[in-house]
Amino acid sequence: MKILITGSNGNLGTKLIDTCLKRGHNPVATDFAVEPSNRTLGKFEYFWGDVQEREKILQICNKVKPDVIIHTAAITDVDLCEQEHELAVNINLEGTVNILNYAEESGCKLVFISTDYVFDGQKGNYIETDETEPINFYGQNKLETENIIKETIENYLIIRTSSLYGIADNIQNNFLLWILKKLKKDEKVPLFIDQIVNPTLTDNLASNIFELISAEATGIYHLAGNDSMSRYEFGELVCEVFNYDKILLEKVSLSDFDFAAKRPKNSSMCLDKFINKCNTKPFGVKESLNFLEIMI
Ligand SMILES: NC(=O)c1ccc[n+]([C@@H]2O[C@H](COP(=O)([O-])OP(=O)(O)OC[C@H]3O[C@@H](n4cnc5c(N)ncnc54)[C@H](OP(=O)(O)O)[C@@H]3O)[C@@H](O)[C@H]2O)c1
Repeated sequence: MKILITGSNGNLGTKLIDTCLKRGHNPVATDFAVEPSNRTLGKFEYFWGDVQEREKILQICNKVKPDVIIHTAAITDVDLCEQEHELAVNINLEGTVNILNYAEESGCKLVFISTDYVFDGQKGNYIETDETEPINFYGQNKLETENIIKETIENYLIIRTSSLYGIADNIQNNFLLWILKKLKKDEKVPLFIDQIVNPTLTDNLASNIFELISAEATGIYHLAGNDSMSRYEFGELVCEVFNYDKILLEKVSLSDFDFAAKRPKNSSMCLDKFINKCNTKPFGVKESLNFLEIMI
């Protein structure tokens, strides 16, 4: 199976390439940078490409002729999306439409990575058919993109995930790395007690995405870490597993900060549809952190 991965230098993209190589598939990678940042993972073909550039993206797709495209490339900074609507639309929506056009023409499967931020966070434990009501532009944009995909093709997988973290040589930025950097420097770590999410290990998410592809799943799936908790509780587990003093953790509330983009309070998701389809449970936080602790 030929698999094209966009955003291949990113948190999830890196682990998708790794998983692809480990499973003996032949990944082809594309990202914004001229060179792949994760070449040490092994041998794979790489194309530079900005998803906004329609001709370039079609050229890459026509050359690769993938059976599956896993589209992770996006702007993930929710505050930036709130401040720069045009940029967010151009990359997160129009960029996806460029890829969708190829999928429509060729019939290849499109796996689109969406977000728990399509929900308003009033209820929590959301299932796939729950009403969507984004409260920030990033969520609105992702939802609009989901809808365009659903209206255009049948062979799609929309995966809504949440709060990604992981460790890789080429990755500088995610929620866990931010916490660990502060703890290592003996700095206070302000963490929300009132934002509930499903923290998700990128290694495990990548592997579970391949489970869905192998099961020939189509439609929308909630796929994230198996535990829902506050960011503060996540920090407590990080301290326990990586042996740091919890005294450095500082309880803060969403209302203490004046972010450009509103955050849903409880965007936790129910993963039963995935668990039933693939007969496997995503890792919880403790299992994920123990996995990383052994790795490093
Ligand atoms: N991170 C989360 O907590 C989270 C939660 C829910 C859903 N998601 C979704 O999951 C997906 C993967 O997230 P992630 O955390 O792996 O993101 P990431 O680490 O930021 O990776 C995204 C990649 O896309 C690239 N990119 C940005 N603009 C591009 C463009 N115009 N053309 C081509 N590539 C471009 C980035 O390159 P540069 O770094 O060079 O800009 C980066 O390598 C995204 O679709 C995101 O919306 C993420």
